[in-house]
Amino acid sequence: MQKFIIAGRKPLSGHIAVSGDKNTALKIIPACVLVPGTTRLTNVPVIEDVGVMIELLKGIGGTAVSSDDQHTWEISTKNITTSTLPEKLVTRARASSMFAGPLLARFGEVHLRHPGGDVIGERPLDLLLEGLTAMGAQVTQGDRTYHIKAKRLRGAKFVFRRVSVTVTENLLLAAVLADGVTELSNAAMEPGVIALAEFLNQRGAKIQGAGSPTIKITGVKHLTEKSAEFAIIPDRIEAGTFACLAAATHSPIEITNCEPAHMDVFIKHLELAGVSIKRGAASLSIRPAKKLRAIEVVTHEYPGFATDYQAPMTVLLTQAEGVSLVHETIFEGRLFYTDKLKQMGARIIMADPHRVIINGPSNLRGRKIISPDIRAGIALVIAGFVAEGTTTIGNIYQIDRGYEKIDERLRGLGADIQRVETDYF
Ligand code: EPU
Repeated sequence: MQKFIIAGRKPLSGHIAVSGDKNTALKIIPACVLVPGTTRLTNVPVIEDVGVMIELLKGIGGTAVSSDDQHTWEISTKNITTSTLPEKLVTRARASSMFAGPLLARFGEVHLRHPGGDVIGERPLDLLLEGLTAMGAQVTQGDRTYHIKAKRLRGAKFVFRRVSVTVTENLLLAAVLADGVTELSNAAMEPGVIALAEFLNQRGAKIQGAGSPTIKITGVKHLTEKSAEFAIIPDRIEAGTFACLAAATHSPIEITNCEPAHMDVFIKHLELAGVSIKRGAASLSIRPAKKLRAIEVVTHEYPGFATDYQAPMTVLLTQAEGVSLVHETIFEGRLFYTDKLKQMGARIIMADPHRVIINGPSNLRGRKIISPDIRAGIALVIAGFVAEGTTTIGNIYQIDRGYEKIDERLRGLGADIQRVETDYF
């Protein structure tokens, strides 16, 4: 077990480069199941969740060889022999369900367990099962197990009753080799969906409309071998996390290797909060704000304010003058970490599981706390830098799931953060 020990209130400055997007990498790896030959992926982040997806791929017979720095992977799925995903790994990553669509399309059946992942609220698979059923699959459910069968999937019109990122991507993968045309309506529009469609189109798929609410997929017999490599897009959530860190600690920080065009609504909120931001083509420069102002934040599907920015933004708002409201609309369990901010001295009232009211600014003090999930975990790291004294954060495995060598990279900004082995917390 490891923990972080953070000494707060140290001046931070300099630049920090953004990694490849976790949530795109987690979809492109299973997409390789549909691709003949070898796929070369670059700009892959070195994080726990990617490690689990690679292990899953190997667990069903795929091969994956990395460069020394593990940012480039060569993946071949030629020798996949089973469509039963190893149970132990499935429960370690929510994204494991992303293998369902491609395995079903290629082998006509898939066995999987209900996936694990963050403890941020109920995360059912009902939409995925509905979508695959609409495409002709038969689903047999056991005790948190699913056996999904379809000799050949057929194109269908599927209307999402609520927007889902992974289900949009999963159905996209299922539909690529289906008979006929599939139309996904009220689909997710995240940059990762566009990247996945581009990856597949480059390899012979026929997908139109990714990035809009209606995606049309015309099934093809098979994808083609393509030697060109594919670069994972920059992680907009990591970039936003660094922006919140810079703003909350009043530090001049330049965030490089990012895609500001994916962050418009987030940047708008930062500006409303009084943060001064200079946009470059692939960078964001954050300058210390004269005064941070309270704002209202309502999380929303892309292109709205992403739920994954919510926790870092909440920490920033503990330093803003006035009363802020944070309304988390996507997940019902994603505000409970605010209890830990309260232990550190933040003045936060939970109105209900979806809304907190923040009175700022408040003087945060270092405390011993446990990281509950990826985004709340990194938010607590930011709180540690804002706070007076020492903050100890346990269960940092959760943070490593989504942020590559975060302590090392933050030390590059002058941060005092140590990773320490521990038997207990
Ligand atoms: N939902 C259902 N039924 C389903 C699927 C989803 O009711 O079958 C509900 C969920 O419970 C949630 C809402 O729909 O309330 C939206 O969930 P969505 O399916 O969009 O989330 P996801 O695809 O499981 C991805 C990201 C999350 C990110 C959300 C929202 C991946 C691997 N995960 O999750 O990322 O918060 O979209 O944008 O892409 C993270 O990176 O920390 C993270 C949790």
